[in-house]
Amino acid sequence: MKKLVVFYSLSGNTEIVARTIAKELKSDLCRVEETRKRNRFLAYMTGGFAAFRDKCSEIKPIALDLHDYDLIFLGSPVWASRPVPAINAFISSTDFKNRKVIVFFTMGGEEYRKAVRNVTLKVEKRSGIVVDSFAVRTGKKNHEAIVKETRKAIKSHLKHPG
Ligand SMILES: Cc1cc2nc3c(=O)[nH]c(=O)nc-3n(C[C@H](O)[C@H](O)[C@H](O)COP(=O)(O)O)c2cc1C
Repeated sequence: MKKLVVFYSLSGNTEIVARTIAKELKSDLCRVEETRKRNRFLAYMTGGFAAFRDKCSEIKPIALDLHDYDLIFLGSPVWASRPVPAINAFISSTDFKNRKVIVFFTMGGEEYRKAVRNVTLKVEKRSGIVVDSFAVRTGKKNHEAIVKETRKAIKSHLKHPG
C-alpha cells in the first residue's frame, strides 16, 4: 500500500509528527506551503481569525498526484479549534476520489475533535474517506517528546491503517 503524508506546519511541531509518520510507515512526504510567508507572531491574530472563519489561503502548487497513493495522512496544527487555512486550501483543490485519509493534528491544548469533524466533512465533500484520526499534544514538548508521542499514537491508533 502506497502512503503519503501531507502536512502544513508554521512553527515545526506538525512537521516533526509528519516526518516521524513518514519514517515509521515508509511513506512519501509533502509539505503544503503558503505563497505568502506568515509572520509567526501575527499568525495568532490573522491566521487564527482566518481559520475560525474556515478560510483558505493561497498555497504553492503541489507536484504530486494523489491518485498514486492508497492512503493519505493529512496533518494540520489546530488553529482556533480548526484546521489551518492552508490545509483548507489543499483540501478544496484536491479530488480525493475514494482515497482513504487519516487526519492528524497537533495542538497546544487538549481539544481536537472539533477540528477532526471539520476536516472530515471537507474531505468527504471532495470524495475522500476518513478512516481514522489522532492528535499529538505539543505544548512545551521538545522534539524527542513529540517523536515519542507520535510513535505511541501510530501504535495505538493505526494497527491496521487502511
Ligand atoms: C493562530 C494559532 C491558533 C492556535 N489555536 C489553538 C487552539 O485553538 N487550540 C490549541 O490547542 N492550540 C492552538 N494553537 C497551538 C498550535 O496548535 C500548536 O502549537 C501546534 O502544535 C503548532 O503546530 P506547528 O508548530 O506545526 O505550526 C494555536 C496556534 C496558533 C499559531
